[in-house]
Amino acid sequence: MKKILIVFLLLGFLLTSCNDDEGGGFIINRLILNVQFPELPVPPDNPLTDEGVQLGRMLFYEKQLSSTSTISCASCHHQELAFSDSNPVSFGVDDRVGTRQAMPLFNLAYTENGFFWDGRTDILRHQSLQPIQDELEMDESLANVIEKLSNEEMYPNQFALAFGDRSITEERIGLALEQFLTSMVSDNSKYDQFKRDEVELTESELSGQQLFVVKNCINCHLRFNFDDDENRFLNNGLDAEEDIQDFGRELVTGNRQDRAKFKVPSLRNIEVTAPYMHDGRFQTLEEVLDHYASGGKASQTTDGSVRGGFDLTNDERRDLINFLKTLTDDDFLTNPELASPF
Ligand code: HEC
Ligand code: HEC
Repeated sequence: MKKILIVFLLLGFLLTSCNDDEGGGFIINRLILNVQFPELPVPPDNPLTDEGVQLGRMLFYEKQLSSTSTISCASCHHQELAFSDSNPVSFGVDDRVGTRQAMPLFNLAYTENGFFWDGRTDILRHQSLQPIQDELEMDESLANVIEKLSNEEMYPNQFALAFGDRSITEERIGLALEQFLTSMVSDNSKYDQFKRDEVELTESELSGQQLFVVKNCINCHLRFNFDDDENRFLNNGLDAEEDIQDFGRELVTGNRQDRAKFKVPSLRNIEVTAPYMHDGRFQTLEEVLDHYASGGKASQTTDGSVRGGFDLTNDERRDLINFLKTLTDDDFLTNPELASPF
């Protein structure tokens, strides 16, 4: 009896709290969609310095990093697209075609489950050396890169400013790129401003925020970065078993249970990062929502929380997309400090 009373009291309390919070959405959204950024995690052995970040930025935009000296990191990671690519799969040297969509680059320092769609690389300084050597991307040896950079006056100088002497090494290239990538923080979208009580959301955006919860997007796209707070790799039902082409996380773990599972990507700046998914199969956010509404395709690893799908009216679809667009951070997309230094 006592227990029941307590439950009733609790319920009463919860209901009044919700009523108190009218206008800004249900209190539950406030709690769940917490966009408070933790302090930027910086590797203790590679603190950010102006000179190091600047060197990383030069390297990011440097075409000499590729065998043909025609492709830089920025050829596939464009700032105005939140450092993603508008091609479904990326073109490397000699127009070689990759197999996956280039990922947007921001808030990488907060990543805890490895880099790339399948999380195969653990730390940014290692990650950044891989595209240079990947034969479908820049296809260049690090020895050649070091030689090319050593022959240009500005690089030995900049390495000296960043690391104390003029020698150019693999490790230092990785460390400098890590510094620049770490400095790419996107935390000033309209939604962040709304959370800081600086701007209002429109009716439609507020309704979209509600739908983001109700339609269960928050089951996977949660935390301040709208990615998975439990660092899971998941299958959101893109393909039926027999159509699965890319085994995703299974390629890393060798575990059949990981087939077609991918990192849950951040939804920040999603308005500008089309096409969508690891293979860029959807051109628009409308198509993405239709996919989730349909419940996706069943396979052994399709996540239970997308199966079944849901109803979505045209108005709801519009509102949900308007909400997703509040995650665009124009300051980030136009920040001159992240643009080409050349
Ligand atoms: C030819 C196109 C291309 C070039 C050039 C390229 N990338 Fe990428 N990048 C990609 C693709 C495609 C992926 C996703 C690959 C995968 O998951 O297997 C990716 C993923 C990444 C990621 C992982 C992001 C995350 O959230 O896990 C980082 C970081 C990155 N690239 C940085 C760089 C850097 C630094 C350079 C230059 C040294 C570079 N890229 C050059 C296409 C490219
Ligand atoms: C079961 C977990 C799960 C749920 C629920 C879920 N997603 Fe996803 N979402 C993912 C995963 C995993 C990917 C990456 C899949 C891939 O590329 O293979 C993804 C990708 C996306 C992308 C493309 C991102 C990009 O960079 O290409 C968008 C947009 C998206 N989801 C929006 C939503 C919305 C809106 C909802 C709610 C209707 C939702 N998601 C529900 C797991 C989920």
